[in-house]
Amino acid sequence: MQTSSRPTAVFTLTAAAMLVVNAWPAHAQDAQVVRIAHAGPISGAIAHIGKDTENGVRMALDDLNAQGLVIGGKKTKFELDAEDDAGDPRQATAVAQKLCDSKVAGVVGHLQSGTTIPASNIYNKCGLPHITAAATNPDVTKRGYNTTYRVIANDNALGAALATYAYDTLKIKTVAVIDDRTAYGQGLADVFKATAEQKGVKVVATDYTNDKATDFTAILTRIKSQKPDAIFYGGLDAQAGPMLRQMEQLGLGNLKYFGGDALCTEKLAELSSQSANIKNVTCATGGASVQKMQGGAEWKKRYDARFPGQFQVYSPYAYDATFVLVDAMKRADSVNPKVYVPFISKTHLKGVTANIAFTPKGELTTPAITLYTFKNKVRTELN
Ligand code: ALA
Repeated sequence: MQTSSRPTAVFTLTAAAMLVVNAWPAHAQDAQVVRIAHAGPISGAIAHIGKDTENGVRMALDDLNAQGLVIGGKKTKFELDAEDDAGDPRQATAVAQKLCDSKVAGVVGHLQSGTTIPASNIYNKCGLPHITAAATNPDVTKRGYNTTYRVIANDNALGAALATYAYDTLKIKTVAVIDDRTAYGQGLADVFKATAEQKGVKVVATDYTNDKATDFTAILTRIKSQKPDAIFYGGLDAQAGPMLRQMEQLGLGNLKYFGGDALCTEKLAELSSQSANIKNVTCATGGASVQKMQGGAEWKKRYDARFPGQFQVYSPYAYDATFVLVDAMKRADSVNPKVYVPFISKTHLKGVTANIAFTPKGELTTPAITLYTFKNKVRTELN
């Protein structure tokens, strides 16, 4: 009896030890730190939007770390590399080169089309994948890089949805179009204008500003003489806020006002100094509202607890973008971009924002659009 029980005891112990090694490598040499970057404007006039997006990545990395993932046989801890491109195309390319050189495993960013498009060329050259949660110009994915992906709808969809709503629902007949001459603002204004004109809306004025301006009285005075029903603005909330205020002051407070995702923020009312005509705004974002996302309500509760008062637009998309990168690493069983990049295009991920899968160019297969207005100065979903 004694001789037969001993081998069984030894076998059981060995099997248990093997299980522990396979499921959870315990030695220091079996662990790895993997850095994922967020790149966006953390300084300047839209730092609040950049910070919201960065928060989404931060929250995703915390949630992923709580899962105790083992990738390539190593217990994996993720760390955030938070980079500021200041919304400037040149600084964005410098950040992209730095991230290539410092060998982060992946990038969520950039936030604006004007920064994302030039940065994408650099990421592609060094084979580093980046997923934008916010840049909407169709050109972001035009070159079909296998290192570039977007987890929201693009400006073709946003511009057309806004023009359709302006004409079909609000019965707008004449519009003045202003843009900030950035890749985003100009591109979105062009799509809006084309769709509006196709529908029979007359564009009675076109004018330009820039993404640093704060005084729009000269432009608005020119537009006033054309007596449009509405103004479309292709640009950021940092300009749209003061512009709305100045419209009110110049007697243009009754005009409808249209814009895209970058002015469709929680902060727009504050940036307009609580101007009464904020109620005339219709703006579009390239995804579902957080209230309508699968698991969105629970996610938002956790976000608000961690980052009170900081929610703007894109944080859930940045959260999902981070999960897309790590999901590809898991399927490839590697954190090396050279190995896991081909797995991103085969993504089928149930995210917080949507079920995420990509077209061959790196666009979402089924992007959503949401229109908002401001009721009692609070951003409110229209549809
Ligand atoms: N959607 C905005 C852009 O593309 C933020 O710049």
